Parts: sequence; C-alpha cells; structure tokens
Amino acid sequence: MSSRTRVGVLASGAGSNLRALLNAVDGDGFPAEVVVVVSNKRDCGALDIARDRGVKAVSMPVNEFGNDAQTRDRAMVDLLRREGVQLLVCAGYNRVLSDIVLTQFQDAILNVHPSLLPAFAGGMNAVEEALAAGVTVTGCTVHLLATGAVDAGPIVSQAEVPVEAGDTAETLRARIHEQEWRLLPEAVALWSAGRLVREGNTIRVVPAPPQRVG
Ligand code: GRF
Repeated sequence: MSSRTRVGVLASGAGSNLRALLNAVDGDGFPAEVVVVVSNKRDCGALDIARDRGVKAVSMPVNEFGNDAQTRDRAMVDLLRREGVQLLVCAGYNRVLSDIVLTQFQDAILNVHPSLLPAFAGGMNAVEEALAAGVTVTGCTVHLLATGAVDAGPIVSQAEVPVEAGDTAETLRARIHEQEWRLLPEAVALWSAGRLVREGNTIRVVPAPPQRVG
C-alpha cells in the first residue's frame, strides 16, 4: 500500500471541488490519493467525474436502504473501511452525516462550506443568504466536522470573497468556488502531512519539517 493518505470523498453535486482535488492529487508529491467517491444521489456530476478519472464511484441513495439514513450511513462506513479510507472529505455533500460516520472518523472529516463560518451556517443557501443580508464580504471555510452541530467544528482555513455591485448568486458563487478549489486541496495536503494540530476548538498549522539534504 502506498504511504499516501487514502481519501474518500462524499459529494452530491456538480463535483467541481472533487475535480480540483483530483487535479491536485495528480501533481508531484501530493501526500494523498482519492480512493472512492460516494454520493447520496443516484447520478450527479461528481460521480461522472470520478468514473472519468478512474476513481471508484458508488451511489448510495437512501431509498436503497429502507429510507433510513442511519442504515445507509452504516453501510457507507463499512464501504469506507473496506477501501481503507483514512480521511473523509465532504465536497458538496448535501446530507447531514449521522453520528455513525462522525464518530468513526473523528477529526478526520473535512467539509467545505461557501461562507465565512460561523456566518450563514446550517443551510444549503449560504450564498443567497449572504447576498440577502447585504454583507460586503463573504467567502468560504474548510473545517473539521464535529458531532452535535451542522457546519461547525474547528476551522482549518478561510478565504474572503468581496461582494461586488451587481453580484447575483451565480456570479458570487463562481468566485467563492475558485477559492474553495484552492483551500480544499491545501487542507487535504496539510491533514495528510500531519500538519493540522487540534487544540480544543481551534486548529494550529504546524510548519513542515525541514527537508533532508544529501
Ligand atoms: C460548494 O460551494 C461547497 O462549499 C458546498 O457545495 C458546493 C459544491 O460544489 N458545500 P461542487 O459540487 O464541488 O461544484
């Protein structure tokens, strides 16, 4: 088995964050690989991207599990364990994970959210909500998922995105996406290199060890 971190990605949508991660993974020396992509949707862009790139793609809609999310999540954990997944990445996954998943992957689930958390947490319309609130700056957050709250947990990184005059949800979302494509692979690399140290509810990024010469 390679020494790269084995990543499982959960996704429900177009999959642009998955694509960004797969592009990073293909780069020289990236310390992680994506071994499986799981979706709660029967079909979605993320599953297509995974298949195109030769990554195992698995669809697990809840109606195939007696419409019981806990049963589905238990099966999902079994699959992720079989694939040797060490780090889980929620890249546009539109379901709240049950404690079955959260407790199995403690401090090992990264989520990307399109706002500067804790602002506009808890919903699927963070970009629309930011526009409606009239904020002048929004952005995105990568954080570890923790039990007991949605869109909460220690923050790994954030990027600001100014709201421009005339922005629509689509134009603003596009600029937020560009920042997500940068932050998420960076966070996966830091986690994989053991450079994220949790201290209570905060994360400290420790420096990379010096490179050996000779
Ligand atoms: C991203 O904006 C992410 O922050 C949110 O869902 C969106 C997923 O986009 N959780 P994509 O499917 O990666 O293109």
